[in-house]
Amino acid sequence: MQPLVVANWKMNTGISDASVLATMVRNQLHEFNGVDVVLCPPFIWLQEVASILEISDPRIKLGAQNCYPEKDGPFTGEISVSMLQELCSYIIVGHSERREHFGENNEFINEKVHACLRYNLTPILCVGEKQKSENSQKKILKDLIECLEGVTKDELAKIVVAYEPVWSISTATQGDIASGEYANEVCELIKKEVGKETPVLYGGSVTSLTVDNYISQKSIDGVLIGGSSLNANNFVGICKKARGE
Ligand code: 13P
Repeated sequence: MQPLVVANWKMNTGISDASVLATMVRNQLHEFNGVDVVLCPPFIWLQEVASILEISDPRIKLGAQNCYPEKDGPFTGEISVSMLQELCSYIIVGHSERREHFGENNEFINEKVHACLRYNLTPILCVGEKQKSENSQKKILKDLIECLEGVTKDELAKIVVAYEPVWSISTATQGDIASGEYANEVCELIKKEVGKETPVLYGGSVTSLTVDNYISQKSIDGVLIGGSSLNANNFVGICKKARGE
């Protein structure tokens, strides 16, 4: 399977930063083979980034960082999957920052997974332990199984799972970062649960200097990038390394 590199811009960029970043990435990845790339800007810049990517190679896809599982209705401030369907191919669901700051639980994330599948969008389902402990792998599997409740075998092939250990997110300059071997061990466990057809990504402080450690592992099919996706040169560097340059 071709490596998948996903950029999660999180709550960053103004309109001009978003346009410049998307344009630079698009121009540098023009006719780029050997890796699938997804950009996930904030909701409010999706349309702008879509119009920038439109005149390029359809291999750079667009993703949203979140969704609401209902189709429409009185849900002030929310964005449904059916609205996103026009613009996106992927939606990140279950990110640890949403669990932490917005109290999202496995049941609600499961509803989002089903909503994505209903509208033929690929959910990028995030799982990962808060702290490394003897029980972390058990907890990750429990979360994974609960978030995938009711998902059929065929549907599993339309999902991406991202393993993001919370203790390794945004820590690139301060310390604890998951090793490639450790990340691989957990991704292997996830793969055993979801099957070979489901891409499993690693995310957490990946940079162009460290991406090789992860992408070279047998059970890691790609990477989910936060901070390093906000700089076009760094992000393009990661994409190039991911395809073995
Ligand atoms: P960082 O790459 O900034 O650690 O973020 C990872 C992440 O949370 C991507 O979803």
